[in-house]
Amino acid sequence: MRMSLRLILLLVITVTLISILFALYQVREDTHARQSDLEKRAQVLAESLQETVDPLWMRGARGSLKRIVERFGNQERLDGVAIYDIQGRPTLVTPSLATRLGIEPPLIDRSVFEGHGWGHFFGSGRNSAHVYAVPIRADGSIVGALAVFHDASYIDDQNTKLWRDTFMHVLMQMLLIVAITLLVVRWSVERPVARLAQWLQDLRAGTIASNSELATEQVLRPLAREVTHLATSLQVARASAEEEARLREAADSLWTAERLRVFQETALEGSRLVVISNREPFMHVHRGSSVEALSPASGLVTAMEPVLRACAGTWIAHGAGDADRETVDAHDRLGVPPEAPAYTLRRVWLTAQQEERYYYGLANEGLWPLCHIAHTRPVFRAEDWEAYREVNAKFAEAVLEEIADVEHPTVLVQDYHFALLPRLIKGSRPDARVTIFWHIPWPNPEAFGICPWQRELLEGLLGADLIGFHIQSHCNNFLETIDRALESRIEWERFAVTKGGHVTSVRPFPISVDFKDNIPSHSNGYLSVRSERAALNGFNFQADYLGIGVDRLDYTKGIPERFRGIERFLEKHPSYQGRFTHVQIGAPSRTHIHRYQDLIADVEAEAERINQRFQTRQWKPIVFLKGHHNHDEIEPYYRMADLCLVTSLHDGMNLVAKEFVASRSDEEGVLILSLFAGASRELEDALIVNPYDTDQVAEAIRCALQMDSKEKRERMRRMRRVVKHYNIYRWAANLIGAVSEIRLEPIQRAKAAVAQSDASTTVQSSY
Ligand code: F6P
Repeated sequence: MRMSLRLILLLVITVTLISILFALYQVREDTHARQSDLEKRAQVLAESLQETVDPLWMRGARGSLKRIVERFGNQERLDGVAIYDIQGRPTLVTPSLATRLGIEPPLIDRSVFEGHGWGHFFGSGRNSAHVYAVPIRADGSIVGALAVFHDASYIDDQNTKLWRDTFMHVLMQMLLIVAITLLVVRWSVERPVARLAQWLQDLRAGTIASNSELATEQVLRPLAREVTHLATSLQVARASAEEEARLREAADSLWTAERLRVFQETALEGSRLVVISNREPFMHVHRGSSVEALSPASGLVTAMEPVLRACAGTWIAHGAGDADRETVDAHDRLGVPPEAPAYTLRRVWLTAQQEERYYYGLANEGLWPLCHIAHTRPVFRAEDWEAYREVNAKFAEAVLEEIADVEHPTVLVQDYHFALLPRLIKGSRPDARVTIFWHIPWPNPEAFGICPWQRELLEGLLGADLIGFHIQSHCNNFLETIDRALESRIEWERFAVTKGGHVTSVRPFPISVDFKDNIPSHSNGYLSVRSERAALNGFNFQADYLGIGVDRLDYTKGIPERFRGIERFLEKHPSYQGRFTHVQIGAPSRTHIHRYQDLIADVEAEAERINQRFQTRQWKPIVFLKGHHNHDEIEPYYRMADLCLVTSLHDGMNLVAKEFVASRSDEEGVLILSLFAGASRELEDALIVNPYDTDQVAEAIRCALQMDSKEKRERMRRMRRVVKHYNIYRWAANLIGAVSEIRLEPIQRAKAAVAQSDASTTVQSSY
């Protein structure tokens, strides 16, 4: 209210000032115009009378002069006429003139007797008047003067009227302004603000959710958006404070985003985390005329995104979206997530050829099959290797730019795309703490040894202070590979390699997911799962039992093997025909590579073949949903499935297994998990299978569907405890904790280590 009063006052003062200034100007102009009009009229009259008076004076016709003087009295605005002798004394005066101006008319200026006409305003208010005098001549000499007197009080009267009108206008305008302002304030400010206040009150009371829409007028929309974010953050903060309190109460030591944030601030002594990966967490793409932000299907993104949100660092990645360049600032940076920026994404641009050779070529046709051993032969091309080196150097430049002003920065390099990066960074910034986390398996030394550039890759990796793998056996394989390929000192008891005086620790850090322990309420739990399941009938099938598989369409994921397991199950247990359906969500990936195109064709053909074999009008055994699905779209499938099939032929960890477990707050559902996925080391309560063994997969499906509900719950509860306890925040805290404990070598020694390994690479490659 006080604010609207101020607004009104301001408007009123402004309008009044403007009106007064305008009226002043108009009065001045009008006065001037009327005065000069009067002056002109007086002059014309005086001069025309002069012609009559001059001969009469000469003739001494006093009687005629007297008549003329009397005739000009009391006419409209003309007060009268006076005739002066040469001494300037009035001799003949219109009688009414003397009445209005006093006994005698005023004296006139001497200049008239020298031959000039003379005009002058005098008096004020009702007595305001104007005189115009001209000389009277006889025989060529000036003998007197004739003066014409006008009443000028009407000019003041009109000015007074103008001021009165202006005052009335200002008054009307003020009343109008007050009324309109009050109405506008009431309709477009007070009401929406009251609604906003009510919405906040409801939020505080917990009667609505923070994501509930706040309907408001256009003008308040930016404010409403900010308030919504604020409310969401407050709710998250409240939830995490409650969670912390619950944990303290339970004397538990669970890791949360908030705990990680505080931990990393202390561990990194305030410096910001810098993460590098090929895949970016948000990719901007054109969709018709608009630009959309996508979160790519990637285990790495699933895992790292919550970490970056908690730690608010910088994530450097390849800008691969076709609208990516349109959404960055002049330094190729942008705040993400787009709806509530929490950290910085720095995009690095690659040419189409670099992407083709470094990403599709060396990384995904070379290193990917080399490390997975899934019976797809690696391809090594010299030009791909060149591009790989080039791109690693390009990313190194971006990293060095981002850490330029940071003392002892902490850099977390991600994955097999950047094996050369640790050494490139360390070579320029020996004071940096550098870690690389390898998200895929590390094979045995014989398998890795076929890579023509194994030595350069290993040298590059050993530039790091710490190398992380998902599981211990990958660490073992790595050290054995080093042992075979490089001159170095390996300390098996503390899992460290010393090369050229630089020490690299090698440790397992099983990656995980963000575990949200939301016990389903009656409204958002079982009931909604049941209705979601009903909604699946939209795909035109009916089933009593549901299996789910969620994968990137990659040959390492064992999808055709999974389908054959399902086929075998239906063959062996025909009572499930018509009752069990497997929904396979598959995101196409790396489709430039022939092997991936073949795989998609293979998956489609296998699904089709098996469906043809068993399907009925109402039912089919496999529903293949090819395409990108975001987390919110996948979650309902996890929650309504009776079992989840993860049958990777080889996988570093496999986060689908952990996501499935994390989403089963109802403690239902069975996980069937490949022996060759890193996750099988932790999720011992899954039904562990060899995906190559079709009968075993079939048997696991039967077992899952017939498992007694108590056992199901116990298994799921135990797995949930594992994922909850070892969530992504603990993973990040362990990694950051280990990096922060690294004792940096003196700079000279670190530089010497890089120089020495440069020399040894040159010698070795000259063989
Ligand atoms: O598993 C290895 C990995 O690079 C992950 O880090 C990531 O989830 C997945 O492959 C996706 O690969 P891309 O980024 O090539 O789509």
